[in-house]
Amino acid sequence: MADGNGKRASWSGSVAFVLAAAASAIGLGNLWRFPYLAARYGGGVFIAVYLALSLTLGFTLLVTEIAVGRYSRQSQLTAFRALGHPRWNFLGALSTVVPLFILPYYNVIGGWVVKYFVAYIRLVCGGGGLEDAQGFFDSFIAAPWDPFVCMAVFTLVSCAVIVMGVKNGIERANFVMMPILLVMAVGLAVYVALLPGSGEGIRYYLVPDFSSCDNIGKVILGAMGQMFYSLSLAMGIMITYGSYMRRCDSVPKASVRIVAADTFVAVLSGFMIIPVVVMFAAKSGAGRAAIDAGPGLMFVTLPKVFASLGAAGAWIGFIFFVLVLFAAFTSAISMTEACVAAVCDFFRIGRNASVAAICAWTLALGSVSAFGYGRWAAFKPCGMPALDFFDTSMNVLTPVVAALICVFVGWVLQPKRILAECQRDGSAVGFKVFYVVMVKFVAPILVLAILASEICRIFGVGGWRI
Ligand code: PHE
Repeated sequence: MADGNGKRASWSGSVAFVLAAAASAIGLGNLWRFPYLAARYGGGVFIAVYLALSLTLGFTLLVTEIAVGRYSRQSQLTAFRALGHPRWNFLGALSTVVPLFILPYYNVIGGWVVKYFVAYIRLVCGGGGLEDAQGFFDSFIAAPWDPFVCMAVFTLVSCAVIVMGVKNGIERANFVMMPILLVMAVGLAVYVALLPGSGEGIRYYLVPDFSSCDNIGKVILGAMGQMFYSLSLAMGIMITYGSYMRRCDSVPKASVRIVAADTFVAVLSGFMIIPVVVMFAAKSGAGRAAIDAGPGLMFVTLPKVFASLGAAGAWIGFIFFVLVLFAAFTSAISMTEACVAAVCDFFRIGRNASVAAICAWTLALGSVSAFGYGRWAAFKPCGMPALDFFDTSMNVLTPVVAALICVFVGWVLQPKRILAECQRDGSAVGFKVFYVVMVKFVAPILVLAILASEICRIFGVGGWRI
């Protein structure tokens, strides 16, 4: 997409690119979903499987998307046409639909984080309001306007960053937020490790517990689905971000760094969350249910845990929600950019007009999810709240898109085109055979396995439930 003067925008360097892609990848998936899946699926077993998968499958898919973007110099919507395969351009349309539908409800959850961030500011300043964590959450999401207003604030601020452009907006926001996020995450993990009694929780997190992963297939599928979401794959984001990458930078090196940064923060989040939840579970008698709280972990269990930490709890909660806010915000920015760039490239309109269109779309569709627990609670597509409905549909669509991208690159475009793009900066590529085998055979099969498991989950076929 042109950045004002008609030339395609670009990152100022490889650090800026890696930071932007890592900022997209590091989000709610790392801070909330990874720790809770690790706790559920045998601690160290899950972590080991996750590491192995992200370094192989995750790396392959990431290299593919970034190289497609850089080669075509187009966002996902028009990239496939630019590669000389107009018949496959439906894939661009599909991978534009994904962020267009995820962004609105992701911003609703972003709005929830804004609400908690404000609640903890109040708490730190001596106010109250969070004594009954469950009641706070239930009455907030069912309130007539609150969830919409919080979502709108989150959306408008992220659109403001996008209006400022790739270098002046996205890059600058990442340069401020990502280092703060990292320092806070390391600080919290160290604080938790020093708490008396945290050893048991750390053991619970790290030591492989084979008894709680009776079915290794489930662990692998769980880890794979998580890796997918966590690396922001199959949403056009990495194609769009790759299209702003300079030709002199190395795609494989950047990909390894993005995978490493994303995995580091995911593992670190486990150190931050699991020991305190385990300690809380023992103290309050909540047992395993506290750890297995799923979506409620972040908005109900953790506030209870923070409250149990005494005077320090308000500050810990505040720091934690700043961290979550930054992580969610930089991820939302990347999704907004993928949508905005697609609209610009397709309709050949200016950036501001495109941002306005995406902002209006997000507020309109987001309102369905925002009001879905309150004033519009009666509207239940397929029997679920609107937010769950969108989430479930997207969980099916993303593996479809990813599998099709692998089939396209592996069998139609040919892997050598991607490998040639990887060599453009002049560096040798030592993983050619690995890449070809992965993209032609292993990746499509594994990705289709996630799809099958997701469909089984939706239809309640118990054995493969994740
Ligand atoms: N990768 C982000 C995370 O780990 C989530 C995300 C999904 C971001 C889709 C952008 C697009 O939370």
